Amino acid sequence: MTLNVLELIASARDGRKVSRDDLYRFASSIGSGGVPDYQVAAWLMAVYLNGLSAEETMAFAHAVRDSGTVMRWGEGPPLADKHSTGGVGDKISLVLAPLAAACGLRVPMVSGRSLGHTGGTLDKLESIPGFDVRLSVEKFMGQVDEIGVSMIGQTSDLAPADRKLYALRDATATVESIPLITASIMGKKLAENTDAIVFDVKAGRGAFMKTRGEALELARSLTRVAGDSGVESRALVTSMDRPLGKTVGNALEVRESLEVLRGGGPGDVRELAVLLTAYMLVCADPESHPVPDGAVAFCREKLDDGSAMERFVRMVKYQGGDLEAFGKLPHAPVVASVKAPRSGVFCGLDAYVAGETVRAMGGGRYTMEDDIDPLVGWERLARRDEEVTHGTVVGLVHAGSDEDARMAADRFSSSLLWDMPVPPLVMEVV
Ligand code: URA
Repeated sequence: MTLNVLELIASARDGRKVSRDDLYRFASSIGSGGVPDYQVAAWLMAVYLNGLSAEETMAFAHAVRDSGTVMRWGEGPPLADKHSTGGVGDKISLVLAPLAAACGLRVPMVSGRSLGHTGGTLDKLESIPGFDVRLSVEKFMGQVDEIGVSMIGQTSDLAPADRKLYALRDATATVESIPLITASIMGKKLAENTDAIVFDVKAGRGAFMKTRGEALELARSLTRVAGDSGVESRALVTSMDRPLGKTVGNALEVRESLEVLRGGGPGDVRELAVLLTAYMLVCADPESHPVPDGAVAFCREKLDDGSAMERFVRMVKYQGGDLEAFGKLPHAPVVASVKAPRSGVFCGLDAYVAGETVRAMGGGRYTMEDDIDPLVGWERLARRDEEVTHGTVVGLVHAGSDEDARMAADRFSSSLLWDMPVPPLVMEVV
């Protein structure tokens, strides 16, 4: 039976239930380019406004998964992945994926590009000259079997419906929707066919879920779909009021990740990467790692003894990247100071403003065709609990032009956070 797309849009508009078969046909047509963008966009807005039921969300997530290939793995170490719901300064995957591989897991990580004001792992990786995120599924799986880790973007084979949906959501203000985020993440992640998935569900100013309650709802939606699909999972609800670490911007974040992989770097990036990796081990290999505390100690060891760095270097090499050339990348053409407009206890920068401003400087996209400038961004210099006086330089703007640097420095200095307690990084484990 052919799909009546008009009827499907009207059902979403009027809050009427849609059958699993129709959602399957819809996702499959989106994946093959059989539905015009304007109809998909209309459906997205209707779902954004009216939501989907838990059953429809599950069916649509499975339909997105089945719009492409589902990987079939041979014998080998347990398979696990992690996915973040979108943050600012969120470079965790760059540390976590090689770390998890160094801890003995196979990590087939299919990541996304920037979405709205949030950054994308693929854009960060592409700031390493030559790094190829467009491997075929075959090559990707071969690399995972050989060195334990590969990081790519969606292909026309892998959850292709999400590729289209992701781009259209970004262009139609329909990103912040629990069923759409669930189907987007789970469509890709279930296509990887891993034993376990750990979710980093962001809550706060710089997240799509602004409150802890909304983030918890999203965490439950993701773990419900994972559980009902036979995949072990945990979701950590983590704070996204301020950017993670000290930097926002693609090349700056890769540089910071390399510091963490060398055993240094900011404490929040290191600790969150370790904790999420530990939960991957607990979920995927509970016999060897029965409790999170033991797994955390094991992960710290693998980060500090250079095993995770060694895995990262191999992955970059396998995917054509040149770390030496990355080390020689210049700074952005203009690097300007951001000064404290007052005295007080400096508590960092508003994560939403950080993400939006770096996007405005060319570090993110407004349309999928936009090119990324890998060099622009924000770099925090002051500690997040530091007593500073008026005029102290608290951070740097890395910009492509004087005009952008002035615009960004103005926005940053009026969005600094003052005199407030720094909330715990991990708010909840689901
Ligand atoms: N990551 C995704 O893959 N999709 C979303 O919708 C949000 C974050």
